[in-house]
Amino acid sequence: GFVRTALRTREQRLNPFPWYRTCLSQGTVLRDETSQSWDVFGYEEAQFILRNHAHFSSERTARGQGGPGNYAPSILNLDPPRHTQLRRLINLAFTPKAIAAFQPHIEAITASLLDDIVKETGGKAGEIDLVDALAYPLPVIVIAEMLGVPAADREKFKRWSDLLVEGPADLRAETLADLVARRAAGRKELDDYFRDIVDVHRQKDDNTLIGALIAAQIENESLSLEELISFCVLLLAAGNETTTNLIVGAWRCLLEHPETMAMLRENPALVDGVIEETLRYYSPVQATSRIVTQDIEVGGQQFAKGDRVVVWLGAANRDARVFEDPDQFIPTRSPNHHMAFGHGIHFCLGAPLAKLEARAAILAMLSRMEDISAVETVLAPIVSGFVYGVKSFPIEVAWVAH
Ligand code: HEM
Repeated sequence: GFVRTALRTREQRLNPFPWYRTCLSQGTVLRDETSQSWDVFGYEEAQFILRNHAHFSSERTARGQGGPGNYAPSILNLDPPRHTQLRRLINLAFTPKAIAAFQPHIEAITASLLDDIVKETGGKAGEIDLVDALAYPLPVIVIAEMLGVPAADREKFKRWSDLLVEGPADLRAETLADLVARRAAGRKELDDYFRDIVDVHRQKDDNTLIGALIAAQIENESLSLEELISFCVLLLAAGNETTTNLIVGAWRCLLEHPETMAMLRENPALVDGVIEETLRYYSPVQATSRIVTQDIEVGGQQFAKGDRVVVWLGAANRDARVFEDPDQFIPTRSPNHHMAFGHGIHFCLGAPLAKLEARAAILAMLSRMEDISAVETVLAPIVSGFVYGVKSFPIEVAWVAH
């Protein structure tokens, strides 16, 4: 975790974009002396780094030193050849074609979550929290089912995955120590939880992702228990907060742009453009990082072996050299080659799934709710060095009568 000096207040976390604009006007690559690392803001430079995995390693935690408990790194934190071997094991489950087969099921889960709210409120118009009601449970139920873990445990997952993305609120030593301790405890609980789940799956033959990973062989060897657990933790955590924030981000955009909402009601096919533009405009993952493996020049700056590089996807997505009027939300933008899902060999495995879930959530809300409006409130940003979003998002809804 890290805290950029410029991103410490509530306002800055909610709106880091002016900081990106200032930085981009000073250069595409800047040095951050406080944390002795590089900040990359330019689109072309970000793409160069993510494409060039030989010079920029994802092995951010030294092997065998993955913190307390010596966790195995997940594919997110591995380079080839191990990255390639492990990713290949589950690639097929996440292709657009495989994911499209889930569409009816995802729509059914969405409908039942909305039914639950109607039941609780008696169908009366009023305020709901979009995060609690739909944007959090939907992705978590879907990935829990794919993995083969009880969706009923989702309150626990929420606490654990919140902790995995949480960053220090400030730079005081006590704050950092407290976060490190809470994160280690959470990771330990998550580890114990999955140890038991893997045991249960070992006893039976099933077609869940955990079942497939248990059965998988790489060069005649099964995955170690630590590798299995890290895979599960990544899949559970990676898709959670991010997809929640995509759904909420899309509604923030729609409520900030009533004319777009009206267009979308007229023409639901616009939903894909709304989702792509939300990914660019309110990127749920604002940053990722790499470690330099050999001295190399980027954007006129000399990087040395061992340097840490923070790639600001959220800034690259607002680079005026690539996106015209980058600070405008334009759902009909075409092309829209944003980097919200990363680039290169670590490109988000869950991208087709996240988009399908967002689509289902937005379209179902539009057809079941005749009116959706913003509630005047103070939004609380998620406190994280890389995840962008809000902790809750109250909206005022009126249901379509049936
Ligand atoms: C990787 C973003 C949803 C699984 C990534 C990366 C980004 C990203 C930026 C690359 C990180 C890097 O290069 O260091 C997002 C966003 C999402 C989302 C914005 C939602 C809007 C999901 C979902 C899943 C998922 C739903 C799975 C259920 C993964 C995995 C990786 C990954 C497994 C690692 C891939 C690898 O290292 O080869 N994601 N993600 N993501 N994502 Fe997502």
